[in-house]
Amino acid sequence: MMGWSSWNHFQTHITDAIVRAEANAMVDSGLRDAGYVYVMIDDGWQGERDAEGELHPNSNFPDMAELGRYLHARGLKFGLYSSPGARTCAGFPGSLNHEEQDAQTFAAWGVDILKYDMCSYADVLKDQGRGDLLLEQKLLMAAFSKMHRALLATGHPIGLTLSNHGLLNISQWAPAAGAISWRTTEDVQDNYSRMSSIGFSQAGLARYAGPGHAIDPDMLEVGNGGMTTSEYRTQMSLWAILAAPLIAGNDLRTMDRATRELLTNPEVLAIDQDSLSRGGDRLWTRGQLEIWRRPLADGSSVLAVFNRATAYRGLTATMLHIPWGDLGLKRPNRLIDVWSGKETLGSPHLTLQITAHDVVLLRLYPTRYALAKRPSRLH
Ligand code: GAL
Repeated sequence: MMGWSSWNHFQTHITDAIVRAEANAMVDSGLRDAGYVYVMIDDGWQGERDAEGELHPNSNFPDMAELGRYLHARGLKFGLYSSPGARTCAGFPGSLNHEEQDAQTFAAWGVDILKYDMCSYADVLKDQGRGDLLLEQKLLMAAFSKMHRALLATGHPIGLTLSNHGLLNISQWAPAAGAISWRTTEDVQDNYSRMSSIGFSQAGLARYAGPGHAIDPDMLEVGNGGMTTSEYRTQMSLWAILAAPLIAGNDLRTMDRATRELLTNPEVLAIDQDSLSRGGDRLWTRGQLEIWRRPLADGSSVLAVFNRATAYRGLTATMLHIPWGDLGLKRPNRLIDVWSGKETLGSPHLTLQITAHDVVLLRLYPTRYALAKRPSRLH
């Protein structure tokens, strides 16, 4: 899944006009054509319920159905946010005891995907689960499934993406609760320390991802200004290795060229969206160096070599020279450095130089034949 969300940049300071302007920027900047089609309005759009219990948007969103039509007319899809609790995380009304009614409302507005965030449902878990984690898990699964059934009952295809910061073993049961993706971590922040601790904590979760089911280590911070280009390149590469949803979280209206290039590199997006949908995993570590690997549908694979170290005594780069066999891999026939587009013949060693807080993303082709099939603008 690829799109843009209001949360990382705007939090609750969102309006209809901002969403429309971001949608237009998605089209004009080429993001939509690169695959970013979901426009996700996160927390902060809600007003109050009326006497019949119907939920209305607040005065920043005069007409949600009209906004939905505006997005659809531009080839975009409409994402909205709610909670199984009485209140959302930012204190707006949630869907507790109004699940069917809200699902009908969302369908009438043309919503295509719903982010459903645990938030104050934690109070219900505390009251009814009384510290029994298995019971809490069952209660949360039931609450998420209830909305899934309510969405199905509308007759409109509305995807469900779940959020509970990865608690209560959610990766084990989210697909059964109807989720196309589910959060596996706390919220990302626009700094390397938080982004990398979240991203690298995903080791071992790849087995839960597959066609139609993605683990979600939260949204992209690329372009929000708190990290360097290398650090943002690290987030894009790691999220692509994980087959994670790519949800841009920056202000697309003022995005610079470097940000746009990071977000739209076709080779990186093709890796993230690869049809095998198998996430990658950590293969090797030495100190602050990590190598992750992800298999792809055409028989090639991707290696991501990360340098998590900060500069040491002014030294910012490290050399790596490892026999392929030490990684449990066969010598590839050819390698493409994905970010630079540089293509080389396989040698007996994996040899490269890697800068602090940066990544080298390599696509490995076992044979010449596979190389010929590579879908690429580099030909
Ligand atoms: C958090 C969630 C964030 C955002 C926020 C809205 O729980 O992880 O992604 O949706 O709530 O209040």
